[in-house]
Amino acid sequence: MPYPVTGVSPKQLPEWAALTQHAKEIKQTDLRRLFAEDTRRLNWSSIEVGPLHLDLSKNLIRKETLGLLVELARARFLPDAIVAMLTGEHINVSEDRAVLHAALRRGATLSGPIDGVNVGQEVEDVLGRMERLSRAIRSNERRGCTGKPFSAIVNIGIGGSDLGPEMVTRALYDFSDKGRRMHFVSNIDPTAIGDIFEVCDPETTLFVVVSKTFGTLETLTNAKAARQWILASLGDHADAVEKHFVAVSTNAKLVSDFGIDPENMFGFWDFIGGRYSVDSAVGLAIMLAIGPERFRSFLGGFAAIDAHLRETPLDENGPVLLGLLSVWYRNFFGTQSQAVLPYSERLARFPAYLQQLTMESNGKSVRIDGSTVDYGTGAVYWGEPGTDGQHAFYQLLHQGTILIPADFVLFAEPLGGPDAQQDLLFANGLAQTRALAFGRNDAELEALGVPEYLRPARRMPGNRPTTTILAQRLTPEVLGSLIALYEHSVFTQGVIWGIDSFDQWGVELGKELASELVPMLTSAGAPDLGAFDASTVDLVSRYRHMRGR
Ligand code: F6P
Repeated sequence: MPYPVTGVSPKQLPEWAALTQHAKEIKQTDLRRLFAEDTRRLNWSSIEVGPLHLDLSKNLIRKETLGLLVELARARFLPDAIVAMLTGEHINVSEDRAVLHAALRRGATLSGPIDGVNVGQEVEDVLGRMERLSRAIRSNERRGCTGKPFSAIVNIGIGGSDLGPEMVTRALYDFSDKGRRMHFVSNIDPTAIGDIFEVCDPETTLFVVVSKTFGTLETLTNAKAARQWILASLGDHADAVEKHFVAVSTNAKLVSDFGIDPENMFGFWDFIGGRYSVDSAVGLAIMLAIGPERFRSFLGGFAAIDAHLRETPLDENGPVLLGLLSVWYRNFFGTQSQAVLPYSERLARFPAYLQQLTMESNGKSVRIDGSTVDYGTGAVYWGEPGTDGQHAFYQLLHQGTILIPADFVLFAEPLGGPDAQQDLLFANGLAQTRALAFGRNDAELEALGVPEYLRPARRMPGNRPTTTILAQRLTPEVLGSLIALYEHSVFTQGVIWGIDSFDQWGVELGKELASELVPMLTSAGAPDLGAFDASTVDLVSRYRHMRGR
């Protein structure tokens, strides 16, 4: 291994024991007292990370807590791990691959080719080709096979080949060319692609088929349906597929087998994981929407965080501290979930995007050397935009019996609409962090004239931790920074836990079993279900019956 990862459980380290002891002390106090006892609390808990301001003060921590967490990080060789990642070592051990999403935005520090790839040059070449295509489409120079300009772009992909492009395109809608509609199809549910056929015109629709492997069932099935749809109305034109399809993949052979001209293929590399690929050619739909210059600003936002990660001491390092706080709650407070609450309508898909980033990365139970963990790893990430969430699930955050740390993402400036509403939006987000932190006690309820018998129901326990991430405005640069902040937080957590945050073997079995089941559902005669369990046999039979088979 490039950095000294061992099969040793972090639980056996003295640094872990120190944190266990320290957590007992923190559990004896609360956020009201923590704020009162340290008037300089904001000095060490406010951090500038690129264009983002991080306020860690409403976490269940003292200054000393961060020191102890940083000591744990050192004991797990986090600084070496950061260098190993950024220099292209094979830190994705189970797939024997480098992990180089930072190179997509010039955030890596490579001294030569990686696995035979001159990374910097190839990244720039692909970007250049993406830019040429984007300019040609956005200027209507490149058109469909009947000569009409494109009015709709349909991204077909799933997981990392969908969530990033979709989330970012939605988030940056105000920076995009609104004359061209963007659609995203991921689900194999026939209604997903069917909806596209209803609202789009084949003559003016461009499909961007995105699949790292070009072997993913959902994507290929939807792409084949799209090809059929195009050919059904434009089949007389020999160049219909060539004009209406482009592909993003690492697998040139399968792309060309599908019928897409390699000229229309934009590549990336094995060392870019699907969930870390939004800033690669996978982001082609984003570039088509917002244009090449703004896409470069988006990359610049990532790069600012990469530089921060590389150059900032651990105890002031935003993504590292965010990751260490996740470890703090997960392992020393026993929390199981983490809410992410963007106060931005445009970030509606950000929690879903983060679910793949965090849960596919850190939902692991063995360490890199194959030994089993004896501590919690990845938490469940979830969330919805504020203020909608306030009227749905915040009740449980405030008064429920489960402790759920929450990240609040706030912006000073709106992107559109009546300006004054931003003040209300911001006030709501800030108010929630205050209510969660400081609650309302019986004395305050009494002062408000609340009768004694109602006080238990109206008591707000407070002491619920939040981190506030504040930025001026949701620009391409800020969004890039926000994503990179979480990418490196996930990495930090994985290093502490000693797991491989860059593989995803857990999703493979389901894929295999699905392909085994398809013939059972569709065969003309009765299938041989002898090898299946009773539940599967029953459900297959019911399905066949319902489908008249
Ligand atoms: O869900 C598993 C997964 O491999 C993800 O990691 C990936 O983002 C997604 O499938 C799609 O894969 P591909 O881009 O190869 O189609």
